[in-house]
Amino acid sequence: MPSDLIIRAMRAPADYAAVADLLTRCGDTVTAEDLAGQDAAMPPHGALSTDDEGRVVGHDRVRYVCPGDGGLVGYAVAWRAPWTPAGVVDGDRCRPDWLFLALHDEAPHDEAPHDERVVGVCQLRATDDPHTACNDYTAVARSWRGHGIARALKLHAAGQAARSGIQHLRTEVEASNGPMLAVNDRLGYRRGRGHHRMVRTCGRDAG
Ligand SMILES: CC(C)(COP(=O)(O)OP(=O)(O)OC[C@H]1O[C@@H](n2cnc3c(N)ncnc32)[C@H](O)[C@@H]1OP(=O)(O)O)[C@@H](O)C(=O)NCCC(=O)NCCS
Repeated sequence: MPSDLIIRAMRAPADYAAVADLLTRCGDTVTAEDLAGQDAAMPPHGALSTDDEGRVVGHDRVRYVCPGDGGLVGYAVAWRAPWTPAGVVDGDRCRPDWLFLALHDEAPHDEAPHDERVVGVCQLRATDDPHTACNDYTAVARSWRGHGIARALKLHAAGQAARSGIQHLRTEVEASNGPMLAVNDRLGYRRGRGHHRMVRTCGRDAG
């Protein structure tokens, strides 16, 4: 990401028009009024917890924007409404089937909103095979790395998946990503075969 770009929390209603413009440029026809209407349907304050089966319940929403020249260049949202089924977190264009968060409990945690306490995330996605899920992304905040958080998140995710009938987990990782490879190796992932990334230089300097 260019160093002059910043990501900040979305401000409502000030950012409605810019977010609507970005979403419309990306192919969805959305107006500032649509966004205001969606917000009005949600309780103003988030309240998340987990049920007896460890599934996320309650409601909340986190939204971030990335301002650039001439408007927003990025928008990210993840939300649960009071009527969203247990265990589901939704986002525009992204619907993880399982999402696990590691939250820190450092003071003043009681007052801190959930999105300020997140130090790690691990996502699983269901596939067409009911017994196979994909772990597309696991990440831990820089200052919290090296304390076993990724390992704990992935172990927890695997346990939850197994309880949902998943027998195989797949994941992909860059060959240069030592920490992620180490975590996967220790958790017993075996290296598969059959996937090559092929790159060709195009343009005038290409051979
Ligand atoms: C990969 C990532 C999630 C690991 O998180 P973490 O909480 O620090 O991981 P853990 O503490 O559970 O384990 C890290 C392991 O990597 C090892 N490690 C750390 N740096 C390493 C390196 N440069 N090379 C090899 N192994 C390394 C640690 O020793 C540890 O292994 P061990 O438990 O056997 O000692 C974190 O580095 C991250 O968020 N990276 C950016 C996002 C990313 O690349 N995600 C993966 C793509 S899906």
